[in-house]
Amino acid sequence: MIISAPTDFRRAAQRRLPPFLFHYIDGGSGAETTLRRNEADLQQLTVRQNVLRDVEGLSTATTLFGEDMALPLVLAPVGLTGMYARRGEVQAARAAAAAGVPFTLSTVSVCPLEEVQAPCPRPIWFQLYVLKDRGFMRNVLERAKAAGIKTLVFTVDMPLPGSRYRDAHSGMSGPNAAFRRMVQAATHPGWAWDVGLRGRPHDLGNISHYMGKPMALGDYIGWLGANFDPAIGWKDLEWIRAFWDGPMIVKGILEPGDARDAVRFGADGVVVSNHGGRQLDGTLSSVAALPRVADAVAGDLRILADSGVRTGLDVVRMLASGADAVMLGRAFIYALAARGGAGVSQLLDLIARDMRVTMALTGARTVADLGAHTLAQGA
Ligand code: FNR
Repeated sequence: MIISAPTDFRRAAQRRLPPFLFHYIDGGSGAETTLRRNEADLQQLTVRQNVLRDVEGLSTATTLFGEDMALPLVLAPVGLTGMYARRGEVQAARAAAAAGVPFTLSTVSVCPLEEVQAPCPRPIWFQLYVLKDRGFMRNVLERAKAAGIKTLVFTVDMPLPGSRYRDAHSGMSGPNAAFRRMVQAATHPGWAWDVGLRGRPHDLGNISHYMGKPMALGDYIGWLGANFDPAIGWKDLEWIRAFWDGPMIVKGILEPGDARDAVRFGADGVVVSNHGGRQLDGTLSSVAALPRVADAVAGDLRILADSGVRTGLDVVRMLASGADAVMLGRAFIYALAARGGAGVSQLLDLIARDMRVTMALTGARTVADLGAHTLAQGA
């Protein structure tokens, strides 16, 4: 299949992955209203064309938390990434570093953080879920520090997992035995969809490292379901702040009041996010929530945004709506599933080109030139 646009990877990923994995990635919660809204609300934002602005020397570079980035992009934390390509987290982190952007490792990654950081030429970011077992949290944060990780992304929109009906249909979120059977099928040597998993362990590396033993992947689903902590509150942010010296970013903010609380509790950044439409169905799209959050806290901390971003034009729309940088979720996961690390490199290159063209035609020479004036609605 010929891939020439960032959005071509989705279909290529669908061809390659076992259906239960494709739908785990592709799906959202409930009736998928928010999932659709994320993309639709971005697409309906109109950008203004401004000509003859001399955009020679156009640059997509930016600096975030003292880190130089070639693009205002970060790869978002995505669980089970090592299931979509062989040692997928290692491949994606290296592709991100080669493109000059950070990669964020999920708590529930297949590869443990040490395996991902060691061959990666720039520090990765680490995403933390609050689990009831605080010993695990302490352990994983200490290991992240020891590995040289500086930036922590604390995800707060998962006090419990969303209602994902595609996963219920596929068996992914059903009884452990059904899930275990699917994983066995997907990694069986005779399986048609070889995503490179054969003959390799695929446990959740950060957790098995803590437990001192690998578990069958199917067993994690039950363990995680029981371990997400509904008692998570701002006190947990205080605890983490006291523990973590580096930049701390709170991911999953949609309301200005919550963003102000994040400032109060010492966060250095927020990610305006609805988890890619996978948690609260029916809530605002991220891009619709973003301007009010930016009005409330811009200047107090850095603002990232994700959910629904598929193209360089979408990146520009998020930046024009108030974000300092943008996280890519499914966009890079489809590319990784389709073509491994080379797919992620190709995607980032396509997005960079698309961004440059969009910036040039809107009359922006730097990322800082983008703002509400870039959008027709913002005038
Ligand atoms: C996610 N996301 C996520 N977020 C997080 O903080 N920790 C995680 O482990 C995961 N896992 C995960 C798995 C899959 C398959 C997806 C698609 C997403 C959410 C992710 O970081 C990001 O917020 C969304 O993916 C952004 O939306 P888009 O770009 O996918 O539309």
